[in-house]
Amino acid sequence: MEVIIESDYNNMSKRAALIIAGEVKRKPDLVLGLATGSTPVGTYKELIKLHKEEGLDFSKVTTFNLDEYIGLSPLNEQSYNYFMWSNLFNHININRANVHIPLGNVDDPDEHCSWYEERIRQAGGIDLQLLGIGGDGHIAFNEPGSSMASRTRIKALDQQTITDNSRFFEREEEVPRFAITMGIGTILEAEKILLIANGKKKADVCAKFIEGPITSQITSSALQLHKHAVVVLDEDAASKLERKVYYNRVRDQKLIIEKKTGR
Ligand code: F6R
Repeated sequence: MEVIIESDYNNMSKRAALIIAGEVKRKPDLVLGLATGSTPVGTYKELIKLHKEEGLDFSKVTTFNLDEYIGLSPLNEQSYNYFMWSNLFNHININRANVHIPLGNVDDPDEHCSWYEERIRQAGGIDLQLLGIGGDGHIAFNEPGSSMASRTRIKALDQQTITDNSRFFEREEEVPRFAITMGIGTILEAEKILLIANGKKKADVCAKFIEGPITSQITSSALQLHKHAVVVLDEDAASKLERKVYYNRVRDQKLIIEKKTGR
């Protein structure tokens, strides 16, 4: 796992956007997995800027979002569908037909989950998956105890997630109790993974998933098994890491190699 530590949220967001932009330029028909929540808002702002100011082209990009609350229609302002359109898709030249976000209000959610997995397969798999991390260590809505082999399915939200996410709702009772979420198995099949985290509140869980044992109690620790996972943190989120000096040394060595080779 490569760990990149940036000074603050803005620099974390810029770095993440540059990594995504690099992949879009390398492969214009990139299959990009996306996340919602507060963490990626800055990254999406940077991507919009790169599109508007430097012509970053999303016209051939296909996207798959990680998750959606059960019971919310895509028009509901708290839905992840709504979030994605207002924070990113409405501001870039994405082709609407290439956007995939699970629907939380379908008649048969189980069938929808199978369809979603099938759509990912038909698209050739996810090239780059962007992730945030929950206070309980979840990625997507894979709460503690989720199977490390899990696929897209319905998952009951943990009490900590319900409390954490209540900041987006008027009252905690309004937070849906279930979500459709890609599984850990689905996420691990992405070619590359980019996890971003910021703030002191994420420091403990970041130390656990990066430097602790692999355990289904911290589902993000499954990323230790991935061949190409990059984690971009701000200083606050990185503050409990024990091997910070090493991560920074790797970064410096990479810079030297990049300068020498021009890559
Ligand atoms: C959202 C998602 C979640 C969030 C996580 C962190 O699509 O998959 O795992 O990434 O709950 O949320 P924030 O960024 O709001 O702290």
